[in-house]
Amino acid sequence: MHHLPIWLTVKSRSVLVVGGTSPAARKVRLVRKAEADVTVVAPRADGEIAAFAGRGEITLIRRDFLPGDVKGRAVVYSATGVDAVDRRVSAAARAAGVPVNVVDRPDLSSFIMPAIVDRGPVVIGISSAGTAPVLARQVRARIESLLPDGLGRLAGFADSFRSAVKATIGDARARRRFWERFFDGPVARAVLRGDVHKARERMVALINGPEAARRPEGAVSIVGAGPGDPDLLTLRALRLLQEADVVVYDRLVGPDILDYARRDAERIYVGKGKGRHTRSQAEINALMTARAKAGQRVVRLKGGDPYIFGRGGEEMVHLRRAGVAVEVVPGITAAAGCGASAGIPLTHRDYVSAVTFVTGHATSGEPDLDWAALATGRHTLVVYMGVSTAGTVARRLIEHGMDPATPAAIVENGTRADEVVVVGSVADLERMVAANRIVGPAVIIVGDVVRLAGEEALPALARAAAV
Ligand SMILES: C[S@@+](CC[C@H](N)C(=O)[O-])C[C@H]1O[C@@H](n2cnc3c(N)ncnc32)[C@H](O)[C@@H]1O
Repeated sequence: MHHLPIWLTVKSRSVLVVGGTSPAARKVRLVRKAEADVTVVAPRADGEIAAFAGRGEITLIRRDFLPGDVKGRAVVYSATGVDAVDRRVSAAARAAGVPVNVVDRPDLSSFIMPAIVDRGPVVIGISSAGTAPVLARQVRARIESLLPDGLGRLAGFADSFRSAVKATIGDARARRRFWERFFDGPVARAVLRGDVHKARERMVALINGPEAARRPEGAVSIVGAGPGDPDLLTLRALRLLQEADVVVYDRLVGPDILDYARRDAERIYVGKGKGRHTRSQAEINALMTARAKAGQRVVRLKGGDPYIFGRGGEEMVHLRRAGVAVEVVPGITAAAGCGASAGIPLTHRDYVSAVTFVTGHATSGEPDLDWAALATGRHTLVVYMGVSTAGTVARRLIEHGMDPATPAAIVENGTRADEVVVVGSVADLERMVAANRIVGPAVIIVGDVVRLAGEEALPALARAAAV
């Protein structure tokens, strides 16, 4: 983030706009919406500015800018388009410690103006930190089209009940849940439709009903975060993250996914990692149980899918036995994510119609797997956690009858920016791991479908080609 997004109170405060043409008029319009007292300094003022002044809505000083004009202002805008004047305004404001924005001149500005979606009192600001204003405007257009017109009305409606809700529901968490139910429910929909009268009656009943003051019940959602790309989160995962009181997360969950959690949610890391305290599974279970029983909404966030080599099953059983409400939200498992991103379909009617997921993790020596079935089955084989045992896996498969030339791929950090795809044969797996220095989370995909590793994989193949 290059800038700090803040919403400045300028109501009844003095704001200076330097310039008399339409860029200045645009600033005047905006600042007046925020109920500031606007002064415009310009030797000549065009129609709109003059009209504002004529109606007594602004103070217009018809002369050149003087450095003393910035004194006592909450904010200063310069919209003259004349480099020398813009520089003088910027220097004077900075010297006086007043925030200054010079139109189209981030180099002379101490703050920049976002693109705005205005559904007053709901206002959304979008910034690309000056790098791509057109993109920011396109994002704004998309948001505009998503937000119902009645959003401002809805915010105003909620505001009119704020103190009543606060007086009736003392507990802050219960209050937040009340508002979440409200904004998601029929009363809010009635307000959006414009049926405010009926909505008011129903709101009064809602506030005074038994549900409102009920102590919130805690729950745990065991949520699959997918293989790494935040775009692969499910909509339900996103909603739960935005409602969570606590997020308990693993090593495979990156910061760009955690960014989607509610800002005030507590984040607790429970993965293994260098220099970090590692919690046992029993401790993680106890932590989730305690938090849920204290009424918190816990999101247990796991890489990929919680039920695929994710210990989600164990946690679910523990929580259920402890009497905690628990739900499991599936995620995109690494095999599916890596296959898609490397252009390798895990099944394909022309090649194979079964897929097997195994773990290459070995507690002692080598993975405990049914090698004969894996070597001779007509399937795509996906090995999770198999980087350190890749050589053993390959040898056992070949010993049990697999053709050494069977195509094999390694996908490391699949779906992430640093994804690496290496394609070769099963006989070559150990060398492929060593030569490409594969260390990150990776899956090994074995089978004829690897021949289809397509164009999508080509950029990531660069490292493989280099060795
Ligand atoms: C403990 S398992 C968790 C699997 C996870 N529950 C899933 O459904 O993908 C960890 C293994 O998943 C695989 N994995 C997870 N994320 C990956 C990624 N982005 N790229 C490649 N493999 C990944 C690796 O084999 C890693 O060692």
